[in-house]
Amino acid sequence: MLKGKKIIVGISGGIAAYKAPSLVRLLVKAGAEVQCVATQHALEFVTPLTLETVSQHKVYSDLFSVNNDHTTQHISLKDWGDAMVVAPATANIIGKLASGIADDALSTLLVSFRKPLFLCPAMNTQMMECPAVQRNIKYLEREGVRFIDSPEGELACGTSGKGRMEEPEAIVAQLDRFFQKGALMGKKVLVTAGPTYERIDAVRFIGNYSTGKMGYALAEELAKEGAEVTLVSGPTHLEMSHPGVTLSKVESAQQMYELCTAAFPQCDAAILTAAVADFRPETTSDIKIKKANDTDGMTLNLVQTPDILASLGKMKQEGQCLVGFALETNNEVAHATAKLERKNLDFIVLNSLQDEGAGFGHDTNKVTILHRDGRMLAGFLKTKREVAQDIVKELVNSLPKPE
Ligand code: CTP
Repeated sequence: MLKGKKIIVGISGGIAAYKAPSLVRLLVKAGAEVQCVATQHALEFVTPLTLETVSQHKVYSDLFSVNNDHTTQHISLKDWGDAMVVAPATANIIGKLASGIADDALSTLLVSFRKPLFLCPAMNTQMMECPAVQRNIKYLEREGVRFIDSPEGELACGTSGKGRMEEPEAIVAQLDRFFQKGALMGKKVLVTAGPTYERIDAVRFIGNYSTGKMGYALAEELAKEGAEVTLVSGPTHLEMSHPGVTLSKVESAQQMYELCTAAFPQCDAAILTAAVADFRPETTSDIKIKKANDTDGMTLNLVQTPDILASLGKMKQEGQCLVGFALETNNEVAHATAKLERKNLDFIVLNSLQDEGAGFGHDTNKVTILHRDGRMLAGFLKTKREVAQDIVKELVNSLPKPE
């Protein structure tokens, strides 16, 4: 999908700049045309000759050079590129962009660039955790800049943690995905999955039998259609490797609530499949609770957890689509319809525990989709992946159509 695309690679001055030639080479190999813009500091780590050899284009680094073909490159290159990726993106270049500072070739181009922009942060963990850097990242994310983060790992300064630049192969995979023509290209979708664990003491919790299979399958199918998926998952044994899915693991309903309410305003849709515990112990103990004697029982006072789906239903804005699941044992359609109304959903996916092969733990599921407008689509027993594909189709049809 990168074939024929024009990509600008921005390089700022961090040790990870040594990976920029590999990134350029991989992009060119994937069929993209690449032009590089580097800061003076970046050129301390990587030579213009290397970048020019792999990109087959001149490297731009000097704002006022008379030899520059693009003397006003912030005007001309910004029109040339279909997308831009800055790798590595230092705290400095992120800060400049967040503040609108344009004092060299790269920052000038960035401030004027209005097409899809990807930043690959690379810095020491303490710098990454600095509140000002985090504020800049959050601000830019809200403005539509896409961040390509790496998992935690070894850093050049000898420590280990967050701040490593993502590997060139993974960056190219993300860019490639971006240019794929899926029905959910450019859409952001939040998905919850799995059970929640509500802590009783140091060794015990209240949980349920959910395995997370439905939510993980759904997250992957959404990503295959091009969506940028945030998957908030309770404890499961499942793994997620699709580059379009960002996985955040939580334990309790409260933690899931906090991540979901923070993420939802930036999303086009949310599909909540998690089997969230409705109650948690009123108090928890940091040590193991002992039996008082050999005969007495124990009373656990439970209080309600936040209803995440209902909270998102209250936050929902025009154009956003909200989907819930309902697991019912009796009066299924009536109960699910009541939930659909009460939680302000666009449609609800009903699982009946009376159906064999449906519900927790199975690789199959049988669902009925109930729409707000009364439409009801009854399915038959399918794999969870096929059910996920059906739900993705419904979501695509429910989202506002592009003008
Ligand atoms: N849900 C949620 N937060 C909760 C409870 C449920 O987000 N605290 C979501 C689930 O992820 C699911 C939907 O609400 O999408 C319905 O969950 P379900 O357990 O069937 O319904 P409840 O609202 O908990 O109602 P009840 O237990 O009375 O059936």
